[in-house]
Amino acid sequence: MKIWGLCFIGFGNVGQGLARILVREEEKLYHKWGFKFKTLAVVGRTKGACKNPEGISLQALLNRLDRGESIGTDLISPLEAVRLSGVDIVIDVTPTNLTTGEPGLSITRAALNEGKHVISSNKGPVSLAFHELQKLASDKRCEYRFEGTVMSGTPAINLALESMAGCEFYEIQGIVNGTTNYILTRMEEGLEYDVALKEAQDLGYAETNPEGDMDGWDAAVKAQIIANVIMRNTIPLSKVTRKGIAGLSRKNIQAAKSKGAKIKLLAHIQRTSNGISASVAPVELPLSHPLAGVDGATNAITYTTNNIKNVTIIGPGAGREETGQALLSDMLSIVAHEQVLF
Ligand code: HSE
Repeated sequence: MKIWGLCFIGFGNVGQGLARILVREEEKLYHKWGFKFKTLAVVGRTKGACKNPEGISLQALLNRLDRGESIGTDLISPLEAVRLSGVDIVIDVTPTNLTTGEPGLSITRAALNEGKHVISSNKGPVSLAFHELQKLASDKRCEYRFEGTVMSGTPAINLALESMAGCEFYEIQGIVNGTTNYILTRMEEGLEYDVALKEAQDLGYAETNPEGDMDGWDAAVKAQIIANVIMRNTIPLSKVTRKGIAGLSRKNIQAAKSKGAKIKLLAHIQRTSNGISASVAPVELPLSHPLAGVDGATNAITYTTNNIKNVTIIGPGAGREETGQALLSDMLSIVAHEQVLF
């Protein structure tokens, strides 16, 4: 049986979330999914790096981080790590940079060029270079998968592309940012903005730079990914109309509440006669609206299609292990494509 070589680039909230699942589920993954793995390298952003051709204990790494120690002192760069012999799947869990896509973009290009599969929760490379990376993966006969970029572990991309294959998507509406939905919910419950944001950060929902959540960039890039990947378009991020929640006060939120409504940061992607329109903005929804009851870090997307009309999926939209699960599902899809399951 093949032992899959893994390489983590980044080992923050999401990388550790995936590592915890792998440690906890290792036996089950082998017995139920025929998936056996060995971690060959882990390169942190600020906490050092380690490599071991015999395999690194993820539990030992997690313990070291819990004790405030570094991952390791091996002088190995991300690009060296992805090129290590025996690495089959590169896990890009570096932070999202929507301007340059780096460091994730270079890491993804390098890995795919080497014919290695890439699974990622990093939205930057998908936003800036989805078509290029998808073509590179196809030329090199490997896979580039990024379920965790939208709605964390709740299936959004693969649901649309795989389970709803053949449908034509006319319109997609969703609450796709967990941090802002969590903050709006907590402010509605009476908390101050700063306190609610701190909670969202402590729970691992917010981006490394939470301004990207507050000003709508995170939801906008998810709307762009949905438009380009699911609706098969090519809109740049700059064409997504964007307004965040930064200007909203607790008074605005309470005023909506007293009218029997809720303010939600809504992403809206629609096919038009000229192509695609995509926007993100806070919208007042009546309580009767299907998305009005989606609270906390929960996300939801409604797909409107030709063959099965409206399909709504609701589930966690952010979180360490929730996003780790998205990476795991991508990993197991790659494994399933390459080996016969038993
Ligand atoms: N900061 C993001 C959110 C994380 O709150 O939705 C998941 O993409």
